[in-house]
Amino acid sequence: MKMVRYVVVCAAILWAVACAPKSEVDRKVDELLGQMTLQEKIGQMNQLSGGAWVAEQARNGMVGSILNCVDPAEINAVQKAAVEESRLGIPVLVSRDVIHGFRTIFPIPLGLAATFDPDIVEQGARISAIEATASGVRWTFSPMLDVARDPRWGRVAEGSGEDPYLDVQMGLAMVRGYQGDDLSDPTAMAACIKHFVGYGAAEGGRDYNSTMISERSLRNTYFPAFKATADAGAATLMTSFNEIDGIPSTGNRWLLKDILRDEWGWDGMVVTDWNSAGEMIAHGFSRDLKHSAEQAVNAGVDMDMMSYGFIQYMEELVKEGKVSETEIDRAVRNILKLKFELGLFENPYVDETLSAQVDYAPEHLAAAKQAAIESAILLQNKGGVLPLDKVRTILVTGPLADAPYEQMGTWAFDGQKEHTVTPLEALRKEYDVIWEPGLKYSRDKDKSSFPKVRAAASRADAALVFVGEEAILSGEAHSLSDICLQGAQSELIAEVAKAGKPVVVVVMAGRPLTIGRDLANCDAMLYSFHPGTMGGPAIADLIKGKAVPSGKSPMTFLHDAGQAPFYYNHNNTGRPCNGTETLLEDIPIAAGQTSLGCTSYYLDTGYGPLFPFGYGLSYTEFEYGKPMIEDADLTEDDVIMASVELRNTGKYEATEVVQLYVRDLVGSVVRPVKELKGFQRVQLAPGESRTVTFALPVSELAFWNIDMEYVVEPGDFTLWIAGDSDSGEPVAFSVK
Ligand code: NOJ
Repeated sequence: MKMVRYVVVCAAILWAVACAPKSEVDRKVDELLGQMTLQEKIGQMNQLSGGAWVAEQARNGMVGSILNCVDPAEINAVQKAAVEESRLGIPVLVSRDVIHGFRTIFPIPLGLAATFDPDIVEQGARISAIEATASGVRWTFSPMLDVARDPRWGRVAEGSGEDPYLDVQMGLAMVRGYQGDDLSDPTAMAACIKHFVGYGAAEGGRDYNSTMISERSLRNTYFPAFKATADAGAATLMTSFNEIDGIPSTGNRWLLKDILRDEWGWDGMVVTDWNSAGEMIAHGFSRDLKHSAEQAVNAGVDMDMMSYGFIQYMEELVKEGKVSETEIDRAVRNILKLKFELGLFENPYVDETLSAQVDYAPEHLAAAKQAAIESAILLQNKGGVLPLDKVRTILVTGPLADAPYEQMGTWAFDGQKEHTVTPLEALRKEYDVIWEPGLKYSRDKDKSSFPKVRAAASRADAALVFVGEEAILSGEAHSLSDICLQGAQSELIAEVAKAGKPVVVVVMAGRPLTIGRDLANCDAMLYSFHPGTMGGPAIADLIKGKAVPSGKSPMTFLHDAGQAPFYYNHNNTGRPCNGTETLLEDIPIAAGQTSLGCTSYYLDTGYGPLFPFGYGLSYTEFEYGKPMIEDADLTEDDVIMASVELRNTGKYEATEVVQLYVRDLVGSVVRPVKELKGFQRVQLAPGESRTVTFALPVSELAFWNIDMEYVVEPGDFTLWIAGDSDSGEPVAFSVK
């Protein structure tokens, strides 16, 4: 019945679209398309990296878009060649990887996800757009929506972590921020949802690797953020490098046509990833570059980023009848439509004096600082050592304490390190600081200055050790098999601890590292990820107690990389954890050949993670009551009204991220043990309590079931409202 309803609705939408009067933009596109030669059309489908040298191609109508040029004068020169000197005067579309800020760098996206605050994320994206468009960039390759469950994968830094729901919320916030309400506004930047799809599921966390994802998993886990942002009007989409079940995404007609266009009805523009069309040759999917161009366009790609295959072979392919002109017109239509929507025909040039006026504006820096404050996760605080509000003299040490370039993190091409404020600089305004670097960079193994560091720790009231990863150790093509602290950083923490003073460790990294052994050598640990331009002042405020941590982990922290992939919202095995796990040290010598515990776990690391998804402490304490459900017998059309009493029982005014989880107990297919379905940031004064209520439509419990239908299956459910994915009291409800 539901399937029939779905088909009828789709048919109605298609009919309505077909009969709808053409928009002004569509009319302009048709008119221009009618004047274009085949060569000019193919030129629009070509994206090249570079600045001034591309002017020649633009003049000849051989390029539709450029990337990696952010010099306004060069951009204007290319634009002049396209607009004033080419036959049809079609402007080029200028693009860039503006991932977490343009000049003002915000925390890396994984850090932004830790804020659980779509408002600050949207604000960050808006500021990124204001700064980038002031330099002439009107298209960013962001947000990255790849659900990522293996911290060995370097690109976990660029996404929102392991949870599809959080991914949706962060993706929507970024698209809203970049694009604003109206793409033709000169400060609007077209978003690019990427990488479609499954790129984060690379085998073993090795970048670019193969993936094996079932259609059901794609639909339940990897599609939702793409579907939600596509529905919300994301202007463009990028295909991914990986293959799924043997088909590279750039040549996957099912993904790019059946799903994206026919099922979702999305009408934006599709670009390949960098040479991902050409890379189909190495995959063994295309015979040569010509074949890859044919496969990509026929699969539904509109624009080729840097394979040169379209520009070299497309005309031939059309003449040979291997690619139809209808496919070419479809692609060019999508490209021209975006250019009209962005107002590029009316407004192709950028004011070359503008960027100097907007870059690093005080309000941009203030927002970046707030985002960095909210993204820091307090993982440990023994004896309430933090905040350090009473001490005077502190030792500051570690390779990340004064590393202005590294703290910006991956994909911060245009951030200038001269504008970064480091923790050392910011802490000097709050304390008497003894500065001893200890190590020069995160991989440094030279321990010769350790005795000096330890002596300095003895003279201080407390020691702050800044460790983590250099920016280059995470991001694209930076996967690691061992994700503990590099170099002699763990030894540095241990050495400082020997002085017997309170030790606070701050970790600035691109992924959740395996920091178990380091926790044992410190009193407090603040995990700030790479916090961006204003990381220093943000961390100083948190250390001093002028701000209170509220970040929550967007990815599970592991004891050991060998546990990866590990995520809270997994399906259950037939032998789930039952508390009888035997660990390595419990096994007698010459033990008999018996099964141990018989559940799914590792003998050395046990069953659980180091810290679960959603975890993060505060300087205050929050007490949760038992969740209440207004009416626990529901139908598909109802809304679940669930609430919890939250009380701040500690001494600090603070914000708690209250999280709502649900489990569908029995399904036609196995369902995850828990799924995030909502969250709220709630600020409470000491002693204050509040009833926090969630209104969750039952329809949001839908999933792709055994018949590959998107339905809510009637049955029993469990619900939790808690401060992380591993706590809270369960309550039951059912759907008839
Ligand atoms: C390759 C990356 O995978 C993609 O995310 C990025 O946008 C392009 N290069 C362009 O730099």
